[in-house]
Amino acid sequence: MDKIVINGGRKLKGKVKISGAKNSALPILFASLLTDEPCIITNVPNLADINTTIAFLNFIGKKAQLNKDTVKILPFKNYNHIAPYDLVRKMRASVLVMGPLLARLKKVDVSLPGGCAIGARPIDIHLEAFKKLGVKIKVSGGYVKMSAPNGLIGAKINFRFPSVGATENIMLAAVLAKGKTIISNAAKEPEIEDLANCLNSMGAKISGAGTKTITITGVETLKGTRHKVIPDRIEAATYLIAAAITKGDICLESVCPKHIKIIIEKLKKAGLSIKEEKDKIYVKWVKDLKPQNISTDVYPKFPTDVQAQWTALMAVTNGKSGVKENVFENRFMHIPELKRFGADLAINGRTVNIKGVKELSGAPVMVSDLRAGAALVLASLAANGESIIARIYHLDRGYEFLEKKFKQLGADIKRIK
Ligand code: EPZ
Repeated sequence: MDKIVINGGRKLKGKVKISGAKNSALPILFASLLTDEPCIITNVPNLADINTTIAFLNFIGKKAQLNKDTVKILPFKNYNHIAPYDLVRKMRASVLVMGPLLARLKKVDVSLPGGCAIGARPIDIHLEAFKKLGVKIKVSGGYVKMSAPNGLIGAKINFRFPSVGATENIMLAAVLAKGKTIISNAAKEPEIEDLANCLNSMGAKISGAGTKTITITGVETLKGTRHKVIPDRIEAATYLIAAAITKGDICLESVCPKHIKIIIEKLKKAGLSIKEEKDKIYVKWVKDLKPQNISTDVYPKFPTDVQAQWTALMAVTNGKSGVKENVFENRFMHIPELKRFGADLAINGRTVNIKGVKELSGAPVMVSDLRAGAALVLASLAANGESIIARIYHLDRGYEFLEKKFKQLGADIKRIK
């Protein structure tokens, strides 16, 4: 398995182009199942999860392929309604196939996704909502078997928690349901708005995306579309923190500053110099940072997907700080690994208590999940000496051209077989 070797202690300088958002591209690719017309999706990052989704679309009956940053999707043969275990276990987001296939085929069998490193990640919110749309559900043989013999009927849905995936799944079903669907306590992430914009460009009737109440009026059919995916706000946040932790001076291009407002605010408060332009962010380390506590929550609060990276930064920020994880129940897998660099961290329930140390020293470490991997890369960039990072396939799921981008910024980083 590949590893990444980093010799740390170098200040990052230069510019980096932020890729399209993985967590926006995934639901948008599944949305192509809602039409038999061609769809062209651009600004798509070349990542393992994207390639898994493309393989999945082809398995279901599309003709989809990624060429550079563009996915072209054509109808190919009649769709099959099964989402097999070996596809779903590779990528939890495969559950997003439920909405479109229930809307088009009125049935779908999806292997139960199973948990992952950061938690059990149930799909009860998805299933409760589908029942409201008239879907019959039974679980057998590790599969969720769903059917809507009379088609999907619009309904009032109130989420107990603003689940991103459940909001996307219901939107992907309700656009072709009979009548109106209103989702209350919907997720408000930018990826939800991007999906709604794409669906509306296909002829859907969605309003309120990005707020806590989304209204969807079902239509008969949807057209093909050409849609450009928004920039990846989590990748952008990761590079901002990379500049901070290496005392660097970099410019992020093709980025959407308003999607990471809270990260920019926190970094400015810590003492980083940040200047925003329309699709650029200039970030420069000017003085020792002051520790900042964070507590993760749903958008627009501090994103759980940046919690591990922030912890790495606080680990080398003089003084005490606390990081609280409120969204996932087990998202501290990076803590024991960060300690191997010499970080002074103590987990206390949902909070990590951090005592900033003067410097970290390079170490061999192992990635447990995508964003934990990002935290280990950041710590390696700041640490003195060599770090060897194993199980980097987790990183390949979410960071396009990772070592190439960091090398361009002056890091001493290479991938070894
Ligand atoms: C999306 O996952 C993202 N993935 C995650 O990013 C991100 O961390 C998460 O949203 C929160 O922002 C994609 O978009 C592909 P949720 P999702 O449903 O949709 C619980 C990454 O790093 N829950 O909002 O699965 C769940 O267990 C990934 O790119 C239920 O209990 O997140 C979790 O504790 C990691 N029942 C919380 O809600 C349900 O039916 C948030 O989950 C659904 C969720």
